[in-house]
Amino acid sequence: MRVLLVDLDPQGNASTGLGVPADARDHTTYDLLVESADLSDVIRQTDIDDLCIIPATVDLSSADIELMSNEKRSFLLHDALRQPAMDEYEWDYILIDCPPSLNLLTVNAMVAAHSVLIPLQSEFFALEGLSQLMLTLREVRQAANPKLRIEGIVLTMYDRRNNLSQQVEQDARDNLGDLVFRTKIPRNVRVSEAPSYAMPVLNYDSGSLGAKAYRQLASEIIENNQEVAAE
Ligand SMILES: Nc1ncnc2c1ncn2[C@@H]1O[C@H](COP(=O)(O)OP(=O)(O)OP(=O)(O)O)[C@@H](O)[C@H]1O
Ligand SMILES: [Mg+2]
Repeated sequence: MRVLLVDLDPQGNASTGLGVPADARDHTTYDLLVESADLSDVIRQTDIDDLCIIPATVDLSSADIELMSNEKRSFLLHDALRQPAMDEYEWDYILIDCPPSLNLLTVNAMVAAHSVLIPLQSEFFALEGLSQLMLTLREVRQAANPKLRIEGIVLTMYDRRNNLSQQVEQDARDNLGDLVFRTKIPRNVRVSEAPSYAMPVLNYDSGSLGAKAYRQLASEIIENNQEVAAE
């Protein structure tokens, strides 16, 4: 698959994790949103075939305030990613890595996207954060993107020996049913280590339980999307 990863998190973890050092991020998501930079300037190839990234730096954290007076402030990413110049890249998937809070950047992502993929840590407060996210989703649907789907909710940091993990899973499946992916991502040290080697876990340790789980998640997502396309 040809994939573009848009780093929309001022922390820039996706950029660092894919080997784009902070001092090499000359053209970023900030430039795309605020300065209307050209796609060809902001999209860069990673070390991995068919995976490109638009990197982010901390300057993105001020975009929220700078864009407040912009009438199109919620549609900037939507418009940027739908420029005609985008067609020639022939992406199969565009993934947008969101910041941890619900702000104007997150709204831009939800307005631009076809669907939302929600990682849910198997911890006590996780489901509380989810209800706020669901409210925001509903608002974005009403105001700007009626077709926005929930791609699915993926349980992460799962520890099957831990009662709490099992309880969070049970609650999630009882309340959210089919929205919860069958695949669970186990807590796995290789997943934590991979970013410090600036590699996805699939390359860092392809046989690890974490890599296997993420590969299985990818299959599940692709399978679901074939069903969506057939409807
Ligand atoms: N060691 C691990 N084993 C399994 N899954 C992990 C591990 N570390 C992180 N994850 C999961 O991978 C995803 C990405 O983790 P990451 O550490 O980048 O945090 P994040 O949720 O993106 O945080 P932030 O919002 O600060 O960017 C999360 O869903 C997390 O639960
Ligand atoms: Mg993150």
